[in-house]
Amino acid sequence: MTEESPFSIQAMELGPMENFVYLVHDHATGRAAVVDPAWDVPAIIRTAEARGVDITDVLLTHSHHDHVNGIQELLDRYDAQIHLLKDEAAFWGHYPDRPTLHHGGDVIRLGKTEIKILHTPGHTPGSACYQLDHHLISGDTLFVFGCGRCDLRGGDPEQMHQTLKRLSTKLPPDTIIHPGHNYAEKTTSTMHEELEGNPFLHFDNPDDFVHYRMHVHDRERRSPYHPVPRDR
Ligand SMILES: [Fe+2]
Repeated sequence: MTEESPFSIQAMELGPMENFVYLVHDHATGRAAVVDPAWDVPAIIRTAEARGVDITDVLLTHSHHDHVNGIQELLDRYDAQIHLLKDEAAFWGHYPDRPTLHHGGDVIRLGKTEIKILHTPGHTPGSACYQLDHHLISGDTLFVFGCGRCDLRGGDPEQMHQTLKRLSTKLPPDTIIHPGHNYAEKTTSTMHEELEGNPFLHFDNPDDFVHYRMHVHDRERRSPYHPVPRDR
């Protein structure tokens, strides 16, 4: 018999930009963390109340407006601790009061659930992914069959190439990806599917990746993204 997971991850698609806000529920304690609270905070609260959980933590993947614009409204209702990477706080400059600032590799404990924060620069300097067992909440770093843009302030396509290489070689192939936007034909995938079908994972040469990310991709592809064969 397989052991039951100590947590569950519920996706809420909110706002005009197809953002995914996630509710991570620790079953043992009834505590919950919201990843990237934005857009429709009453919907987040309704989801938490329907589950009977208490929101004690807020996890930020990065500081872009469409991922953080619900923080204050959520804090007005819940006394929650905010977590983000130190590098993103420095980049952002005006983060909410008293966040916990992490380094990549730190483990956040939500009751019995362990959440590892990974530093994944490229979309922003302090972008983070959150790893929970074989799940990865990937923000705007890795989308299903896509990746975050690198042409905004703080973006760096060379770093993105290294980040995606590291994630795709270090994480087990059965890792389930929970992206920051609903840009694909389906809402989640596995790292194995990404290795096969995500064109951004098909480049060994950093210069080729940078050229594709910065000058080719957005002309060639429109969401919803479909898999691209590796041998294209
Ligand atoms: Fe973003």
